[in-house]
Amino acid sequence: MADLDLAGKRVFIRADLNVPQDDSGAITDDTRIRASVPGIRLALEKGAAVMVTSHLGRPTEGQFSEADSLAPIAKRLGELLGREVPLVRDWLGGVDVKPGAVVLLENCRFNVGEKKNADELAQKMAALCDVYVNDAFGTAHRAEATTHGIAKFAKVACAGPLLAAELDALGKALANPRRPLVAIVAGSKVSTKLTILKTLSERVDRLIVGGGIANAFMLAAGLPIGKSLCEPDLLPEAKEILVMMEARGAKVPIPTDVVVAKTFAADAPATVKAAKEVEDDDMILDIGPATAKHYAGILGMAGTIVWNGPVGVFEFEAFGNGTKEVADAIASSKAFSIAGGGDTLAAIAKYGVTDRIGYISTGGGAFLEFLEGKVLPAVEILEKRAAA
Ligand code: 3PG
Repeated sequence: MADLDLAGKRVFIRADLNVPQDDSGAITDDTRIRASVPGIRLALEKGAAVMVTSHLGRPTEGQFSEADSLAPIAKRLGELLGREVPLVRDWLGGVDVKPGAVVLLENCRFNVGEKKNADELAQKMAALCDVYVNDAFGTAHRAEATTHGIAKFAKVACAGPLLAAELDALGKALANPRRPLVAIVAGSKVSTKLTILKTLSERVDRLIVGGGIANAFMLAAGLPIGKSLCEPDLLPEAKEILVMMEARGAKVPIPTDVVVAKTFAADAPATVKAAKEVEDDDMILDIGPATAKHYAGILGMAGTIVWNGPVGVFEFEAFGNGTKEVADAIASSKAFSIAGGGDTLAAIAKYGVTDRIGYISTGGGAFLEFLEGKVLPAVEILEKRAAA
């Protein structure tokens, strides 16, 4: 997008403004809106007539719903841009916007055919513009009419600065990383992250696991986990990863101490125990101080760090130390670090290290699919157009 002459052109920007809201509709985190501003500003500075759209939530197609309207987003975007951003409710038939001005097109998932990536809808949208810009990394794993179909039919299709920056940062971390490459993959279930674990286990030098995933690896290493969250069906997979990594000189460090409780509650008394002393009625809710120190040492020596998932139940004060130590170690490390995923961003905000992480992705599902090594359809179609 940066290379194109957009003066007087009609530019259609697909952004990801799908932000969390509370029950009253107030935006609780505007990170994605802020991240979309540079692309919109750039188009305006180049003298384009700018149309921006996004999805919000997962509304029923073909019908308007107030709860999923982009109205609060238009207001916030206007504040950030320092100008009014009119919201256009019906836009498929044509949009009235002049060069140097910007409008927001109402939730694109209200349109019939958006989710199914219908050609007829994509063609109508392509006809609205001279240039289509995809700046929605957060939705790059979805092949929908505004992320994929329109890119086939638009006269010109290109990536916006946010999409380009995300791909650049993630590519830098995974394609040709400075070594050692250390990944932290944590979460309650192995099943939800199995493909990521497998993909990363082939590339990383150290794979730090946390949460329910760590419990599966502890069990696979012959340690007791009491009544901690675990998916025993996935033990063979965990064992295979351990063996495979060790065979190529890489490692999955297993916790040597943990913080346990008898119940899953914020006020449950927390006890630090050696990993081998976990009892049948114990629940592991965090890594212990010796393990945290060991992980901090690994992170301190890393060349590149990929972080997805808190290593303990950090929402409960007594079980947040491990995640805090990890966050601090990443922040102080000289490594290039990338982080993504809802819980990880919440931990980064809680421990105040936002400015000391190399790159924070705006992607949730898209970030995970990138780590899985999957092709992101919205990116693939732009690459195809560029190569044609
Ligand atoms: C996200 O929040 O991960 C993206 O905006 C995609 O939303 P979706 O899962 O509803 O497609």
